[in-house]
Amino acid sequence: MDKKTIIITGGAGFIGSHVVRLFVDKYPDYKVINVDKLTYAGNLANLKDVEGRPNYRFVKADICDFEAMHSLMEAEHVDGIIHLAAESHVDRSIRDPFIFAKTNVLGTLSLLQAAKLYWESLPEKYEGKRFYHISTDEVYGALELTHPEGIEPPFTTKASSGEHHLAYGDTFFYETTKYSPHSPYSASKASSDHFVRAFHDTYGMPVVVTNCSNNYGPYQFPEKLIPLFINNIRHRRPLPVYGKGQNVRDWLYVEDHARAIDLIFHKGKDAETYNIGGFNEWKNIDIVRVLVRTVDRQLGRPEDEDMDLITFVKDRSGHDMRYAIDSTKLQRELGWEPSLQFEEGIEKTVRWYLENQEWMDHVTSGEYMKYYDEMYKDR
Ligand code: NAD
Ligand code: TYD
Repeated sequence: MDKKTIIITGGAGFIGSHVVRLFVDKYPDYKVINVDKLTYAGNLANLKDVEGRPNYRFVKADICDFEAMHSLMEAEHVDGIIHLAAESHVDRSIRDPFIFAKTNVLGTLSLLQAAKLYWESLPEKYEGKRFYHISTDEVYGALELTHPEGIEPPFTTKASSGEHHLAYGDTFFYETTKYSPHSPYSASKASSDHFVRAFHDTYGMPVVVTNCSNNYGPYQFPEKLIPLFINNIRHRRPLPVYGKGQNVRDWLYVEDHARAIDLIFHKGKDAETYNIGGFNEWKNIDIVRVLVRTVDRQLGRPEDEDMDLITFVKDRSGHDMRYAIDSTKLQRELGWEPSLQFEEGIEKTVRWYLENQEWMDHVTSGEYMKYYDEMYKDR
């Protein structure tokens, strides 16, 4: 195997920490450099088990700092960049869009420009190099909920059975779907995707872009639906379901996303886009009921005891109705498959949060709870 030096940006965040762990474990001959600014969402406790490993280095830096990015790439002879650092929460983007444009758009541009300057200075130029940009299905906009009752009952959706059926609508997001972002978050991600492709088309930089559906699993910051609600159920706090809970999201276990990233980084075709998702559509309200049941059962409480915590609150502005991703291209061309059924993934995820209360208490202390109380004060 080639020796490679790669930068993983946002490695202290939710998905990034799983990607760092996978690469550090699987590629002892690589040098894995985690570049993270450690915003509220970045937490080195997510990577305690890889700290001190000889093929791992952490650099606290801002991706918007072009000089710092360029000197790091030059000093470390970086061959590959896997770019996950971003502001990632839609509700925050509605309240404060500027930081989303700064980090997601200008931060990505700063990394691209630094990589261009460094790689073009080498005798081999772009040979053996790769800039891998991690994006989201939210750039495609929203799909309609044409079958609100569902084409199949949710629990029969087989993420790993090869059955690629639609659950609540007539179509998926494909790699060819026109971009139509609605939230400041998705608009900033869409813009960064365009910059990445522009660097390929204009300068010949070897790039690859992936658009993934909603992830769930350990180490997700509890502002997102699944960890937030698990923690609230545990503490018997209200569960604020936006609107009527009819919005549909397509859920993928985070380690399956990390495995897809590994495969695409090594085997994906230059300048291609791959959609990543598990054909696993769920209505929010159904997920919430599964979470209540699972948490109550795992805590030894009577099942369904906490259903009355469900509280319907004012809808999110511009709330996208349905996401559903077609990942046939990735499955067919590179042989990737999600490994976990949703039932198994949720069981594992709930257990992890309940067993890691210290992690949860740490990330929900101080500033975060002030933010949370303010978010929900009018609801
Ligand atoms: P996250 O919010 O958990 O983590 C983001 C990380 O980026 C944090 O560690 C943070 O400290 C770091 N960061 C933020 N600004 C930075 C800056 N200026 N410089 C350096 N580091 C900075 O996010 P996540 O959920 O792990 O998402 C990671 C990536 O995957 C994002 O690009 C996101 O758009 C994309 N994505 C997420 C999902 C999902 O369901 N979470 C789905 C598809 C795609
Ligand atoms: P989220 O986890 O924020 O991911 P995204 O907005 O990127 O899909 O939200 C998932 C779904 O859950 C989304 O439809 C919004 C909804 N939601 C709630 O109903 N209540 C909440 O408190 C949160 C955070 C989300």
